[in-house]
Amino acid sequence: MLTPDLIQALRSAQHIVASTGAGISAESGVPTFRDAQTGLWSKFRPEELATPEAFLQNPKTVWDWYAWRRELVARAEPNAGHRALVALEASVPEFTLITQNVDGLHRRAGSQSVLELHGNIMQTQCFSEGTLVTEWNDHGETPPRCPACNGLLRPNVVWFGEALPAAALEQAFTASRHCDVFLSIGTSTAVAPASSLPFEAHAAGALIVEINPDPTPLTRQAQHVLRGPAGKILPLLAAALANR
Ligand code: OAD
Repeated sequence: MLTPDLIQALRSAQHIVASTGAGISAESGVPTFRDAQTGLWSKFRPEELATPEAFLQNPKTVWDWYAWRRELVARAEPNAGHRALVALEASVPEFTLITQNVDGLHRRAGSQSVLELHGNIMQTQCFSEGTLVTEWNDHGETPPRCPACNGLLRPNVVWFGEALPAAALEQAFTASRHCDVFLSIGTSTAVAPASSLPFEAHAAGALIVEINPDPTPLTRQAQHVLRGPAGKILPLLAAALANR
């Protein structure tokens, strides 16, 4: 699976970027984004729920969908893939972890610095002010209301059509343009601007490694394509770096 030249490139890399998508959490039992519509929610398409318009039209439905996903994520545990990235972070001079996931599993696994481009489902913000809200009075209303302005509360995740957190996005682009190796892990590489990061890295001369059971639009550009689950492949990468 890991060729000698890939192992050599990993061991001599000064800066490695790992960019993850829903696939790295699949082995923790968190459905990938596009097949999360199981059971109760099968009649909705994510694009119908994860937008500000959907929230304003059906605040209770959207809040309940995220409450269902929060529940599911809270029961999930980080898997060997998440843990391997923690080990990688410790064995590379510079390591940047970028994720599109909102499940918080990288932090729970012990990753120190995580650029959460799409927010974090375990956090809540005020729809009107955009501020993070950690406590509110529960008057039995769904969604609950902001204690400061009485606006509706919403999950702290980026919805379709919304801007990504500017600082995190800028750091992600800078890291992608200055790394030696870019690991694209468990993402369909379908949603901008995150999907352009590996192409920026490729244009800047980084070695591109794709870790995914299936092909993606990045496959053609990747010098190394590791077809398989992240939970099996990432520990091999971490071991190769640990035993240098
Ligand atoms: P997707 O559901 O689009 O893609 C998941 C990818 O993971 C696919 O390419 C799968 O082949 C792959 N995969 C599945 N199991 C895997 C495993 N065990 N190991 C490695 N890869 C595996 O999820 P994302 O690409 O993360 O955005 O979706 C990107 C964004 O689309 C999400 O962040 C969300 C959605 O719109 C927003 O909500 C703004």
